[in-house]
Amino acid sequence: MHNWDTETDLFAHSVIGYAIERLRMPKDKRWGALPADELRSAIEHAITVDGSGALEALHLFRDVLMPACRPMDDPMNLAYVPTSPSIASTMFDLVVSASSIFGGNWEAGAGAIAAENQALRWLADLAGFPKGAGGVFVSGGSAANLSALVTAREGYRQRHGHSDRLMIAATDEVHASVRAAAKVMDVDVLPVPTDDCGRLTAAALRAALAGNAGGNVFAIVATGGTTNAGAIDELDGIADVCAEHGLWMHVDGAYGLAALCSNIARERFRGIERADSFGVDPHKWLFAPYDCAALVYRDPTLAASTHAQHGAYLDAVNRGEWNPSDYAYHLSRRARGLPLWFGLVTYGTSAYTQAVDSAITTARAFADEVAARPGFTLLTPPQLSVVLFSADGWTREQYLEWSHLRARQGRWLVLPTTWQGEPCLRVCLVHPATTVEALIGMLDDLASYQVE
Ligand SMILES: Cc1ncc(COP(=O)(O)O)c(C=O)c1O
Repeated sequence: MHNWDTETDLFAHSVIGYAIERLRMPKDKRWGALPADELRSAIEHAITVDGSGALEALHLFRDVLMPACRPMDDPMNLAYVPTSPSIASTMFDLVVSASSIFGGNWEAGAGAIAAENQALRWLADLAGFPKGAGGVFVSGGSAANLSALVTAREGYRQRHGHSDRLMIAATDEVHASVRAAAKVMDVDVLPVPTDDCGRLTAAALRAALAGNAGGNVFAIVATGGTTNAGAIDELDGIADVCAEHGLWMHVDGAYGLAALCSNIARERFRGIERADSFGVDPHKWLFAPYDCAALVYRDPTLAASTHAQHGAYLDAVNRGEWNPSDYAYHLSRRARGLPLWFGLVTYGTSAYTQAVDSAITTARAFADEVAARPGFTLLTPPQLSVVLFSADGWTREQYLEWSHLRARQGRWLVLPTTWQGEPCLRVCLVHPATTVEALIGMLDDLASYQVE
């Protein structure tokens, strides 16, 4: 398992060859068959006592398993929040794996951590956070939300002591991971209604807090780009309310805060500079491979005292240095911020601005096309790169039927969602190669499907 011989050499080149082949594959060839029933039986005897050799294992992956995975980086994959990692960051991810770096503490991973911190600083600067800001790359937006909220609760307890039930204020439009975090933390969620565009406003937050007098709210989760609609909460006004009530303001920007680097949408995040913490996932819209989420604290001191793990075996860790393990719920960690850093160094930040702006521009052009087309309704103007629209008269079942058929054919992945109680279609753009023409082709398809 650890000896290098000629067979290993051949296999190693095959692995690199596979990676190159996958990255060079024309984008419209990336779709394979969606998971088939025979999948489990195809690999039933894959793990054996003696092993089958690396080449056979690689071929099993390439020919059986990979075709049963959805290409998340396809420009026509427009569901959930897809991904579009750059070539440099993806290839560098192989390098990170080969380098066996422990990214938890400075002593073990100083070189990697210095680079990760530089990428975090880029994000902190975009948000207008002060010099002392800092954080860590975690596995995803869910982990970022949980770790930030645990830190917020610790601060509340330090100031107010322990009280029976604590609460997070959030709207129905927050990502499901916020409610999941509340469950893990055994705290409640104070619901706050959104406006017609799906945004949390300062007025609604103030009213909800006033109606909850005596309730122990310790944090507000605002969203910088909701998953369902791409809505950006009224961050500046929310920061005022947090200051009035002494509450922690966390901004979940897993999807949308990538647009902090945008020339055309940056202004919409005014107030982010006043947050206590924010999260943004480079694996969503900053062209890094899975799994990579940045969590940044305005003042990381409290996070370190909240999350740092202690034990006899950890006594030797130099607490005077930057130890990423201390800023979230984890200890061992892959230096998962490195592929983002490598991409930034390779292409320069202006390439990120252009790529993000391109998705926003495409979303706006597509929304205009929807609004102008008879038979379709644009449900809300896109604030970022999510477009919600309906095909007049369609039911949820019809959307699902069309969506499943086109996904199986590998043409588009677009799933239905709900907007203001009604079913509709949702398109989420992150890939700079998604064209307006291709999206118009999808509208044509929907229009003709209606009469099929
Ligand atoms: C706004 C928002 N927050 C959190 C998450 C969860 O992120 P992850 O899937 O990386 O845990 C998502 C995922 O789509 C999201 O859009």
